[in-house]
Amino acid sequence: MFGHKRRTAAPPETGGNLLIDVRHMSKIYNEGKENEVRALDDVSLAVPWGEFLCILGQSGSGKSTLMNILGCLDIPTYGTYYLNGQAVSDMKPSVLSGIRNREIGFIFQGFNLISDLTALENVELPLIYRGMPRAERRRLSVAALEAVGLGKRMDHRPAEMSGGQQQRVAIARAVAAKPPIIMADEPTGNLDSASGREIMEQLSALNQQGTSIILITHDNHLAQMARRIVTIQDGRIVSDGPGKGGLD
Ligand SMILES: Nc1ncnc2c1ncn2[C@@H]1O[C@H](COP(=O)(O)OP(=O)(O)OP(=O)(O)O)[C@@H](O)[C@H]1O
Ligand SMILES: [Mg+2]
Repeated sequence: MFGHKRRTAAPPETGGNLLIDVRHMSKIYNEGKENEVRALDDVSLAVPWGEFLCILGQSGSGKSTLMNILGCLDIPTYGTYYLNGQAVSDMKPSVLSGIRNREIGFIFQGFNLISDLTALENVELPLIYRGMPRAERRRLSVAALEAVGLGKRMDHRPAEMSGGQQQRVAIARAVAAKPPIIMADEPTGNLDSASGREIMEQLSALNQQGTSIILITHDNHLAQMARRIVTIQDGRIVSDGPGKGGLD
């Protein structure tokens, strides 16, 4: 759907070459019931291609809710979301799952690796879902694991690796097919600060190679790695400004 690498055509609906164009979006869980939660409240956000954006906020502020919608894993209650100029709410579930598969690499706090599979098999799995031929998916998976420094750990299962190594497997899995977008929800949340920093540097390197990155964190220090920081509080955007593009 997105074509490849260079994107110059301006999507007509948005009037610009935007990756993400969210307008007046709210997400209300259990709407109308007594346990109603307004997790996102009138959020508008425009993100160009190639951005390294951090969504920063405290626990419960709505970060994962926002990422789930941006990543087409959930839909807003109100408002519109255009992804690459196309209204996500108009897309069929099969189209959405295709986008998730082809265009977005996800990294989660809990790694979400499959314990029975080796590092290499974990990285290969989404490529199997994409229907990629065996030789190609093996080649891309090996290259991705080597790029995160795990060339010698490819036949290890998750339980045989450290937390930092498991997260690097998760990164390799997210990037193996070279998706144009990476969405990472607290990718360093379970790591010590040195491993966390290493992961952030790998995200930054991917961004410099042209990958658009949406990073979610509650950590103000790590957020500075991004080029732009959007702060969210009680489901609302309360600030939007530049990051330092690196860590002190
Ligand atoms: N499926 C759900 N049903 C009802 N309420 C939910 C659901 N998911 C999240 N919430 C509520 O929505 C609000 C935002 O949750 P969200 O998970 O987006 O926060 P977060 O910023 O990611 O927090 P954390 O940093 O702890 O991961 C919270 O009050 C949460 O309790
Ligand atoms: Mg969260």
